[in-house]
Amino acid sequence: SNLHALAKSKGKLYFGSATDNPEFTDAAYMAILSDNTMFGQITPGNSMKWDATEPSQGQFTFSGGDAVANLAKTNGQLLRGHNCVWYSQLPSWVSNSGFSAAELTSVIQNHCSTVVGHYKGQVYSWDVVNEPFNDDGTWRTDVFYNTLGTSYVSIALQAARAADPNAKLYINDYNIEGPSAKTTSMLNLVQTLKSQGVPLDGIGLQGHFIVGELPGNLQQTLEQFTALGVEVAYTELDIRMTLPATQALLTQQQKDYDTVVSACMAVEGCVGVTIWDYTDKYSWVPQTFPGQGEACPWDQNLAKKPAYDGIVSGL
Ligand code: XIL
Repeated sequence: SNLHALAKSKGKLYFGSATDNPEFTDAAYMAILSDNTMFGQITPGNSMKWDATEPSQGQFTFSGGDAVANLAKTNGQLLRGHNCVWYSQLPSWVSNSGFSAAELTSVIQNHCSTVVGHYKGQVYSWDVVNEPFNDDGTWRTDVFYNTLGTSYVSIALQAARAADPNAKLYINDYNIEGPSAKTTSMLNLVQTLKSQGVPLDGIGLQGHFIVGELPGNLQQTLEQFTALGVEVAYTELDIRMTLPATQALLTQQQKDYDTVVSACMAVEGCVGVTIWDYTDKYSWVPQTFPGQGEACPWDQNLAKKPAYDGIVSGL
């Protein structure tokens, strides 16, 4: 049976995929994406980000995000909101305006409460804060941290909670899937926020991996987070390789997908897995990591790869 149906039958909330608005004109792509036995959840790859939703101060545009939300509704799929506060795809009016702490606080509050409020009742979980840490575990020195210190995280989470009390609120990051300085920093942040009573429901582990280079202890790392009273999910899973693909790489990729999905299945508090689009046709990888690609379980022609069977065996 198909991926979401299998995940559901084993007690998970969803198996899902990212998607993006330009892809909506591709009928063959849409037929697979919209099959809710395959994907029970979708995430907008770009259209709910700050540059898309508030390109200039106080001017909100929801057309792209609404199209993804409406697709989820039509298909009977859960929706993950992505994201409220992130250093990237951030308009320069936020990063370069020299806002005071008080001004930036209200900018964050207005952005998060307007965007989360707009989708109130439609979103299972929101990535309220995306990628707060550097890989060495220090805080990313973006405009938010530089102006407000770590307090921007609770400012955003509180605004999101008030705007949609039923949405699960997440912090989302990469390179926190196995033991690392960054993982330790995220664990410490969860502990601190929980002890302060800041609303936080989940940690998203993006899961942008390289074939043959999965971190060890995937399951144990998920359990370290859930032990602190948050749920977890793999939110952006893909497993890239240096091109050209070989049979050996595709077979290793199959194993790696199995390993990652198995880790989620083994942890009760892991609610689901989202792949960062299902097909190599629309993967972000080749543009971001030159010379790498074929990271998804479906190929350029929308045919299933060995990786697909890896997911099935993991579920
Ligand atoms: C990526 C999108 O997939 C691309 O289309 C865009 O050009 C850049 O952003 N981590 C995240 C996602 O949290 O928002 C990123 O998405 C991939 C890395």
